[in-house]
Amino acid sequence: MSFKEELQKKTELTEEIIRKFLPKEEGFAENMAKAMNYSMCAGGKRIRPMLLMETCRMFGGDLRLAEPFMAAMEMIHTHSLIHDDLPAIDNDDYRRGRLTTHKVFGEAMGVLSGAALLNYAYECMFRAFTLDPGNPSVAKAASVMAGKTGIYGMLGGQSVDVENDGKPMNREMLDYIYSHKTSALIEAAMMTGAILAGADDGQVAVIEQAAGKIGLAFQIQDDILDVTSTSEELGKPVHSDEKNHKVTYVTLFGIEEASRMVSELTEEAVSLLESLRKENEFLINLAGYLAGRRK
Ligand code: IPE
Ligand code: IPE
Ligand code: MG
Ligand code: MG
Ligand code: MG
Repeated sequence: MSFKEELQKKTELTEEIIRKFLPKEEGFAENMAKAMNYSMCAGGKRIRPMLLMETCRMFGGDLRLAEPFMAAMEMIHTHSLIHDDLPAIDNDDYRRGRLTTHKVFGEAMGVLSGAALLNYAYECMFRAFTLDPGNPSVAKAASVMAGKTGIYGMLGGQSVDVENDGKPMNREMLDYIYSHKTSALIEAAMMTGAILAGADDGQVAVIEQAAGKIGLAFQIQDDILDVTSTSEELGKPVHSDEKNHKVTYVTLFGIEEASRMVSELTEEAVSLLESLRKENEFLINLAGYLAGRRK
């Protein structure tokens, strides 16, 4: 099977797993469930749950235990996108090829359904405790997921990002923003996959380092696509960064140098993964594919 075929198959599998966990559209809060499912079912590359699954597979883990974490991972990510698009943050009207949640359901429901998805992520993740009672890896993985999401992770990065729109920024602060707003969730995905499979602390530390580089490369590529792609191809507006007067890797280093950094970071991540001497060719190829992605 070619890499592209395998990617398609794994995307479909990931999609199926996520859908099993979505909230039911019923009762008085039906409209909020609809808003949550609207963004969850709009597509998206499903990269984070896929990375979680594949890292778990790399260490020979039980994928059944990974499923609630995969769904939770995509819910946390989707929450970050719903809130990122709000008028108070990036103020974008399209996401995943559709109008953004707040455009369809209103701003109040954008705020609430984003928060509800973040909470529902934990409601799903905690089901892993009953799947394998007494397995200490579940609590460890849940704690990593929570930490990488909050003030010391993605949300910390988002806060510094939004506070500094239009302000000059040095490399150190930009790196703080990228390693938190984007790398942290990719680290969460790969680390929880490894932890659930019983990887030891040394192995998890290598995974964290590799994921950090994959995440940084991912955000730099996102910056590049914001200026080189089209809204049709991306499913979200281009030139959003310019509109919000953002300092990015592209504004600091130019497209060519930024692209070189994406390749270099990806090579470093692949070397780290290979140093673990575990078999998962698909995961290695996925890292390479993300570096060259056009959407
Ligand atoms: C978008 O993430 C936000 C960034 C961190 C750049 P993705 O590019 O993974 O978005 P979806 O999930 O495919 O829509
Ligand atoms: C967002 O970065 C990262 C998160 C949503 C946490 P961007 O603001 O560049 O993401 P896009 O381009 O809107 O997807
Ligand atoms: Mg943003
Ligand atoms: Mg944005
Ligand atoms: Mg962007």
